[in-house]
Amino acid sequence: MSVATANPRVRSGPRIRNAAGRAGEYRHIRVRRLSPVIGAEIEGVDLSAPLDPEVVEEIREALADNLAVFFRDQPMTAAQHKAFGELFGELHLHPAAPHVPGFPEVMIIAADADSKRANGEGWHTDVSCDAEPPMGSILQILECPPEGGDTIFANMYAAYEALSDRMKAHLDGLTAVHDGEHVYRGLYANLGVADKPSYPRASHPVVRTHPWTGRKSLYVNQAFTTRIEGLPQEESDALLRYLYQHLQHPLFQCRFKWTPDAVAFWDNRCAQHHAIWDYWPHARSGRRVTIKGERPV
Ligand code: SIN
Repeated sequence: MSVATANPRVRSGPRIRNAAGRAGEYRHIRVRRLSPVIGAEIEGVDLSAPLDPEVVEEIREALADNLAVFFRDQPMTAAQHKAFGELFGELHLHPAAPHVPGFPEVMIIAADADSKRANGEGWHTDVSCDAEPPMGSILQILECPPEGGDTIFANMYAAYEALSDRMKAHLDGLTAVHDGEHVYRGLYANLGVADKPSYPRASHPVVRTHPWTGRKSLYVNQAFTTRIEGLPQEESDALLRYLYQHLQHPLFQCRFKWTPDAVAFWDNRCAQHHAIWDYWPHARSGRRVTIKGERPV
Protein backbone atom coordinates (compact mmCIF):
# COMPACT_ATOMS: atom_id res chain seq x y z
CA MET A 1 0.00 0.00 0.00
CA SER A 2 1.36 3.43 -0.83
CA VAL A 3 1.95 5.98 1.88
CA ALA A 4 -0.58 8.29 0.27
CA THR A 5 -3.28 5.60 0.36
CA ALA A 6 -2.45 4.71 3.94
CA ASN A 7 -2.48 8.30 5.13
CA PRO A 8 -5.01 10.63 3.53
CA ARG A 9 -3.45 13.62 5.30
CA VAL A 10 -0.40 13.30 3.07
CA ARG A 11 -2.64 13.57 0.03
CA SER A 12 -4.53 16.59 1.24
CA GLY A 13 -1.71 19.06 0.59
CA PRO A 14 -2.72 21.96 2.80
CA ARG A 15 -1.70 20.05 5.94
CA ILE A 16 1.90 20.06 4.74
CA ARG A 17 3.34 23.31 6.06
CA ASN A 18 5.57 25.20 3.70
CA ALA A 19 9.15 25.26 4.85
CA ALA A 20 9.82 28.79 3.76
CA GLY A 21 7.79 31.79 4.73
CA ARG A 22 10.10 34.62 3.95
CA ALA A 23 11.35 34.32 0.37
CA GLY A 24 12.03 37.87 -0.72
CA GLU A 25 12.49 39.26 2.79
CA TYR A 26 16.26 38.97 2.82
CA ARG A 27 18.37 42.08 2.45
CA HIS A 28 21.72 40.54 1.53
CA ILE A 29 20.97 37.24 -0.21
CA ARG A 30 18.51 35.98 -2.80
CA VAL A 31 16.63 32.80 -1.84
CA ARG A 32 14.85 30.71 -4.49
CA ARG A 33 12.87 27.76 -3.20
CA LEU A 34 13.25 24.37 -4.89
CA SER A 35 10.00 22.84 -3.63
CA PRO A 36 7.08 23.91 -1.41
CA VAL A 37 8.44 21.99 1.59
CA ILE A 38 12.23 21.85 1.55
CA GLY A 39 15.29 23.25 -0.17
CA ALA A 40 16.30 26.65 -1.53
CA GLU A 41 19.15 27.96 -3.65
CA ILE A 42 20.90 31.01 -2.26
CA GLU A 43 22.56 33.57 -4.52
CA GLY A 44 24.51 36.75 -3.89
CA VAL A 45 27.15 35.43 -1.52
CA ASP A 46 30.78 34.32 -1.86
CA LEU A 47 31.42 31.59 0.71
CA SER A 48 35.20 31.81 0.33
CA ALA A 49 35.28 35.42 1.57
CA PRO A 50 34.88 36.68 5.14
CA LEU A 51 31.13 37.20 5.63
CA ASP A 52 29.34 40.04 7.35
CA PRO A 53 27.46 38.81 10.48
CA GLU A 54 24.18 40.01 8.92
CA VAL A 55 24.79 37.76 5.90
CA VAL A 56 25.57 34.83 8.20
CA GLU A 57 22.35 35.50 10.09
CA GLU A 58 20.36 35.55 6.84
CA ILE A 59 21.89 32.21 5.77
CA ARG A 60 20.94 30.82 9.20
CA GLU A 61 17.37 32.11 8.74
CA ALA A 62 17.19 30.65 5.24
CA LEU A 63 18.36 27.32 6.67
CA ALA A 64 15.75 27.46 9.44
CA ASP A 65 13.05 28.22 6.85
CA ASN A 66 14.12 25.76 4.17
CA LEU A 67 16.01 22.99 6.06
CA ALA A 68 18.54 22.62 3.24
CA VAL A 69 20.14 25.47 1.30
CA PHE A 70 22.33 25.28 -1.78
CA PHE A 71 24.96 27.54 -3.32
CA ARG A 72 26.39 27.21 -6.87
CA ASP A 73 29.89 27.94 -8.12
CA GLN A 74 31.69 28.38 -4.79
CA PRO A 75 35.32 27.36 -5.27
CA MET A 76 36.78 27.02 -1.76
CA THR A 77 39.95 25.62 -0.26
CA ALA A 78 39.64 23.23 2.68
CA ALA A 79 40.64 26.12 4.97
CA GLN A 80 37.90 28.37 3.54
CA HIS A 81 35.35 25.55 3.83
CA LYS A 82 36.32 25.06 7.47
CA ALA A 83 36.13 28.82 8.13
CA PHE A 84 32.63 28.99 6.59
CA GLY A 85 31.47 26.07 8.78
CA GLU A 86 32.86 27.69 11.92
CA LEU A 87 30.57 30.68 11.40
CA PHE A 88 27.71 28.40 12.49
CA GLY A 89 29.31 26.65 15.46
CA GLU A 90 32.10 24.39 16.63
CA LEU A 91 33.00 21.71 14.11
CA HIS A 92 32.42 18.00 14.70
CA LEU A 93 35.03 15.28 14.15
CA HIS A 94 33.63 12.32 12.24
CA PRO A 95 33.99 8.99 14.10
CA ALA A 96 35.04 7.04 11.00
CA ALA A 97 35.57 9.00 7.79
CA PRO A 98 38.89 10.09 6.29
CA HIS A 99 39.76 13.77 6.33
CA VAL A 100 41.81 16.22 4.28
CA PRO A 101 45.46 16.06 5.49
CA GLY A 102 45.96 18.75 8.12
CA PHE A 103 42.20 19.37 8.46
CA PRO A 104 40.63 16.78 10.79
CA GLU A 105 37.30 18.66 10.61
CA VAL A 106 37.13 18.43 6.80
CA MET A 107 35.84 15.01 5.86
CA ILE A 108 36.45 13.45 2.45
CA ILE A 109 33.46 12.09 0.50
CA ALA A 110 34.48 9.94 -2.46
CA ALA A 111 33.22 7.03 -4.53
CA ASP A 112 34.69 5.56 -7.70
CA ALA A 113 34.91 2.35 -9.73
CA ASP A 114 36.60 0.53 -6.80
CA SER A 115 33.93 1.43 -4.24
CA LYS A 116 31.86 -1.36 -2.72
CA ARG A 117 29.61 1.14 -0.95
CA ALA A 118 29.15 4.89 -1.19
CA ASN A 119 28.86 7.36 1.66
CA GLY A 120 25.34 8.58 2.32
CA GLU A 121 23.38 6.12 0.15
CA GLY A 122 20.14 5.39 1.98
CA TRP A 123 18.00 7.77 4.03
CA HIS A 124 19.74 9.19 7.09
CA THR A 125 20.71 12.17 9.18
CA ASP A 126 24.44 12.47 9.74
CA VAL A 127 26.02 10.58 12.63
CA SER A 128 22.74 10.19 14.54
CA CYS A 129 24.56 7.44 16.50
CA ASP A 130 26.41 10.19 18.43
CA ALA A 131 25.00 11.17 21.84
CA GLU A 132 24.99 14.76 20.52
CA PRO A 133 24.45 14.37 16.77
CA PRO A 134 25.58 17.16 14.42
CA MET A 135 23.25 20.10 13.92
CA GLY A 136 24.23 20.65 10.32
CA SER A 137 26.49 19.54 7.50
CA ILE A 138 28.07 21.58 4.74
CA LEU A 139 29.04 19.50 1.72
CA GLN A 140 30.90 20.68 -1.35
CA ILE A 141 31.06 18.39 -4.35
CA LEU A 142 34.20 19.03 -6.41
CA GLU A 143 34.02 16.22 -8.95
CA CYS A 144 30.63 15.27 -10.41
CA PRO A 145 29.86 12.15 -12.46
CA PRO A 146 28.69 12.73 -16.06
CA GLU A 147 25.11 11.99 -14.95
CA GLY A 148 23.49 11.19 -11.62
CA GLY A 149 24.91 11.54 -8.12
CA ASP A 150 22.03 13.77 -7.01
CA THR A 151 21.11 14.09 -3.35
CA ILE A 152 17.48 13.98 -2.16
CA PHE A 153 16.42 15.84 0.98
CA ALA A 154 13.24 15.27 3.00
CA ASN A 155 11.45 17.47 5.54
CA MET A 156 10.95 15.62 8.84
CA TYR A 157 8.65 18.31 10.30
CA ALA A 158 6.30 17.65 7.39
CA ALA A 159 6.65 13.88 7.83
CA TYR A 160 5.74 14.20 11.52
CA GLU A 161 2.89 16.63 10.91
CA ALA A 162 1.34 14.32 8.29
CA LEU A 163 1.01 11.45 10.80
CA SER A 164 -2.39 10.82 12.35
CA ASP A 165 -3.03 12.18 15.85
CA ARG A 166 -3.25 8.55 17.05
CA MET A 167 0.20 7.77 15.65
CA LYS A 168 1.64 10.99 17.10
CA ALA A 169 0.27 10.02 20.53
CA HIS A 170 1.77 6.53 20.17
CA LEU A 171 5.20 7.92 19.30
CA ASP A 172 5.15 10.51 22.07
CA GLY A 173 7.79 9.64 24.69
CA LEU A 174 9.29 6.70 22.75
CA THR A 175 13.06 6.48 22.29
CA ALA A 176 15.08 4.55 19.72
CA VAL A 177 18.59 3.15 19.43
CA HIS A 178 20.87 4.67 16.75
CA ASP A 179 23.91 2.50 16.02
CA GLY A 180 27.02 3.39 13.97
CA GLU A 181 28.54 -0.10 13.93
CA HIS A 182 26.83 -1.57 10.85
CA VAL A 183 27.01 1.80 9.05
CA TYR A 184 30.69 2.60 9.41
CA ARG A 185 32.47 -0.77 9.61
CA GLY A 186 34.28 -1.14 6.29
CA LEU A 187 32.59 1.92 4.75
CA TYR A 188 35.83 3.76 4.05
CA ALA A 189 37.99 0.74 3.14
CA ASN A 190 38.30 1.95 -0.48
CA LEU A 191 39.90 5.14 0.85
CA GLY A 192 42.46 3.17 2.86
CA VAL A 193 40.87 3.87 6.25
CA ALA A 194 41.26 1.11 8.87
CA ASP A 195 38.26 0.37 11.08
CA LYS A 196 38.08 1.53 14.69
CA PRO A 197 37.48 -1.09 17.42
CA SER A 198 33.94 0.27 17.92
CA TYR A 199 31.59 2.99 16.71
CA PRO A 200 29.13 5.18 18.66
CA ARG A 201 25.63 4.12 19.71
CA ALA A 202 23.00 6.36 21.35
CA SER A 203 19.36 6.50 22.35
CA HIS A 204 17.25 9.42 21.10
CA PRO A 205 13.58 10.46 21.18
CA VAL A 206 11.60 9.20 18.17
CA VAL A 207 10.13 12.70 17.87
CA ARG A 208 12.40 15.63 18.68
CA THR A 209 11.76 19.35 19.11
CA HIS A 210 13.94 21.72 17.13
CA PRO A 211 15.85 24.16 19.35
CA TRP A 212 15.50 27.07 16.89
CA THR A 213 11.92 26.66 15.65
CA GLY A 214 10.19 24.76 18.49
CA ARG A 215 8.67 22.45 15.86
CA LYS A 216 8.50 18.67 16.25
CA SER A 217 10.11 16.38 13.70
CA LEU A 218 10.39 12.64 13.15
CA TYR A 219 13.84 11.51 14.27
CA VAL A 220 14.33 7.89 13.20
CA ASN A 221 16.31 6.98 10.10
CA GLN A 222 16.83 3.81 8.12
CA ALA A 223 20.64 3.93 8.23
CA PHE A 224 21.24 4.24 11.97
CA THR A 225 18.02 3.49 13.88
CA THR A 226 17.89 -0.20 14.79
CA ARG A 227 15.01 -0.47 17.27
CA ILE A 228 12.44 1.40 19.30
CA GLU A 229 13.07 0.83 22.97
CA GLY A 230 10.39 -0.72 25.20
CA LEU A 231 8.52 -2.42 22.34
CA PRO A 232 8.72 -6.11 21.40
CA GLN A 233 11.20 -6.54 18.51
CA GLU A 234 8.49 -7.43 15.98
CA GLU A 235 6.42 -4.38 16.92
CA SER A 236 9.48 -2.15 16.74
CA ASP A 237 10.42 -3.58 13.32
CA ALA A 238 6.88 -3.06 11.99
CA LEU A 239 6.61 0.48 13.33
CA LEU A 240 10.03 1.51 12.00
CA ARG A 241 9.19 -0.04 8.63
CA TYR A 242 6.03 2.07 8.48
CA LEU A 243 7.81 5.25 9.56
CA TYR A 244 10.63 4.73 7.03
CA GLN A 245 8.08 4.19 4.26
CA HIS A 246 6.08 7.23 5.38
CA LEU A 247 9.02 9.63 5.60
CA GLN A 248 10.16 8.73 2.07
CA HIS A 249 6.97 10.11 0.52
CA PRO A 250 7.86 12.42 -2.42
CA LEU A 251 5.65 15.18 -0.99
CA PHE A 252 8.28 15.80 1.68
CA GLN A 253 11.23 16.00 -0.72
CA CYS A 254 13.40 18.05 -3.01
CA ARG A 255 16.23 16.78 -5.19
CA PHE A 256 19.49 18.63 -5.68
CA LYS A 257 21.47 18.18 -8.90
CA TRP A 258 25.13 18.88 -8.23
CA THR A 259 27.45 20.97 -10.37
CA PRO A 260 31.19 21.24 -9.65
CA ASP A 261 31.86 23.51 -6.62
CA ALA A 262 28.21 23.55 -5.53
CA VAL A 263 27.64 23.54 -1.78
CA ALA A 264 24.74 22.09 0.23
CA PHE A 265 24.08 23.06 3.85
CA TRP A 266 21.42 21.00 5.61
CA ASP A 267 19.97 20.83 9.12
CA ASN A 268 20.29 17.27 10.43
CA ARG A 269 17.74 17.90 13.18
CA CYS A 270 14.74 18.27 10.90
CA ALA A 271 15.85 16.92 7.50
CA GLN A 272 17.05 13.59 6.16
CA HIS A 273 19.00 13.07 2.98
CA HIS A 274 19.87 10.29 0.58
CA ALA A 275 22.88 10.41 -1.75
CA ILE A 276 22.00 8.46 -4.88
CA TRP A 277 24.78 6.12 -6.00
CA ASP A 278 23.63 5.64 -9.58
CA TYR A 279 26.87 6.70 -11.28
CA TRP A 280 29.16 3.67 -10.80
CA PRO A 281 31.80 3.19 -12.27
CA HIS A 282 32.19 6.97 -12.50
CA ALA A 283 33.71 8.99 -9.68
CA ARG A 284 32.14 11.61 -7.42
CA SER A 285 34.04 13.37 -4.66
CA GLY A 286 33.98 16.32 -2.33
CA ARG A 287 34.50 17.58 1.18
CA ARG A 288 32.19 18.05 4.14
CA VAL A 289 32.36 19.92 7.41
CA THR A 290 29.85 19.07 10.09
CA ILE A 291 28.69 21.40 12.85
CA LYS A 292 28.26 20.09 16.37
CA GLY A 293 24.75 19.74 17.72
CA GLU A 294 23.01 19.11 21.01
CA ARG A 295 21.42 16.11 22.69
CA PRO A 296 17.99 15.67 20.99
CA VAL A 297 14.96 16.38 23.19
C1 SIN B 1 26.46 12.66 3.20
O1 SIN B 1 25.65 11.96 3.75
O2 SIN B 1 27.08 13.54 3.76
C2 SIN B 1 26.74 12.48 1.73
C3 SIN B 1 25.78 13.25 0.94
C4 SIN B 1 26.17 13.25 -0.51
O3 SIN B 1 27.26 12.72 -0.86
O4 SIN B 1 25.42 13.79 -1.31
